[in-house]
This record gives sequence, C-alpha cells and structure tokens, in this order.
Amino acid sequence: MAERKRLVAGNWKMNGGRADGLALARGVAERARGPHRCDLLVCPPFTLLGAVGEALAGSGVGLGGQDCHPAASGAFTGCISAEMLRDTGCSHVIVGHSERRHTCSETDADVRAKAEAAWRAGLIAIICVGETHAEREAGLACEVVSAQIAGSIPDGADAERLIVAYEPVWAIGTGLTPTTADIAEIHAAIRALIPAGTRILYGGSVNPKNAAEILGLEEVDGALVGGASLKADDFWAIAQAC
Ligand code: PGA
Repeated sequence: MAERKRLVAGNWKMNGGRADGLALARGVAERARGPHRCDLLVCPPFTLLGAVGEALAGSGVGLGGQDCHPAASGAFTGCISAEMLRDTGCSHVIVGHSERRHTCSETDADVRAKAEAAWRAGLIAIICVGETHAEREAGLACEVVSAQIAGSIPDGADAERLIVAYEPVWAIGTGLTPTTADIAEIHAAIRALIPAGTRILYGGSVNPKNAAEILGLEEVDGALVGGASLKADDFWAIAQAC
C-alpha cells in the first residue's frame, strides 16, 4: 500500500482581512520553498481565496475552502458551491467542521451531501468528526465518532478524494488535547471504517509544542490546525514536526 504522506492543513476560520491574509500566505509560501516532508494546505476565508491563491502560486501549498453548499448553483443567498471553490483554485474543502455542526446545526446527512458536492466538483473532501466533552466523559467517544463516519462519508469513497479529520470538540481552541493513547485509539477505530490509504488528520489545539508528539503517532497522518495556523512561524514549526 502506498505510504500515507502527511498533510498539515491550516484552517484560518473567520480571521483576517486582505493585508493580514496576504502577509500570512506570503509567509507560508516563502517557508514552503524550504525543505519539508509533508503536504501543506491553507483554508482561508472565502473573501481571501483569490488573493491567497495568487500569493501561494508556485509554492506547492494547496488552497482549500472551509465549507461548501451541496448544490452547484442556485438561489442560496450567502452560500458558496464546491464548483465555485474549484473555479477559485481550491483543491480541497473542509466539510462538517464542529463549528458548523454545532453552530449551524449541520447533520451527518448535510455533511455527506457537501462531501458529495466536493467530489462532483473534483475537490478532495476533508470530513471532520469528533465527540463533545460530555460524550467523552460518558465513554461514548468511539461510538459517536464511528456513527459520524458512517453517516457523513458518501458511498464510493476512496483515499484519493477523502481525508478524515478527528477533532474532539472540547479540544478545539481550548488548549486541551486528548492523551496520545486516546488519539491513537480513535484514529485506529476510524481507520477500520474507511478505505485503505485514507489520511486521518488530528485537529484540536495542535501547536508547535505538542506537534511532534501528536504527529509522531503511527495512526496520525497530519494535522488540521486552527489558531496556530494564523502565524506563519507556528504553522511552519508544526509542518517541520512531521
Ligand atoms: P484549533 O482549531 O487548532 O484552534 O484548536 C482546530 C480546528 O478547529 O480545526
């Protein structure tokens, strides 16, 4: 089986105007011209995709969206389709991030429809799953994540078009992380449910200090990084930990 090349993806969320975003993208692109052993991706806000894409040109750093609508086009005010992302130069799109599952009430069926849209447009879907703190405390983490995997991944998935990100809700933006044993356990459970060779990223408070330990786990194929992806040095330090 082909080796799973690691991926470090930055999820900028709703941060940055044009000046900040361009400076960050240029900082990442400049560093990415140096030696590194992982794939790199940044997912800026929709408003910055075009400008960031231009700043990244020739650097090898990929461009991704943070969400997409299931439909290709139509009367959906404020939404962006996977086809539009592709047209703007994206290769990837994050779907089912917990901030969307929880604040926009997205269900597994919604996430699945968005992943199908991503594939229809020729994008790689990064499907996020993860348990809440209460679910972990109740011993349900594995069960919850397995159900999200079953409900969110469309039929016909393959390792070329699918990436899974395990992001415990309670670890996102909190500075808290699961133990490495807990991460390894959930990643192994996910691996048993998805096509061979599919990459599984860990996300949730990854930073330059904990990256080597987390990325050193056999089952972890990279990281989805939020807060620490907003500083080129921190993002690069995480990439270097691969
Ligand atoms: P964080 O976010 O690194 O700030 O915890 C990760 C994510 O939400 O993808």
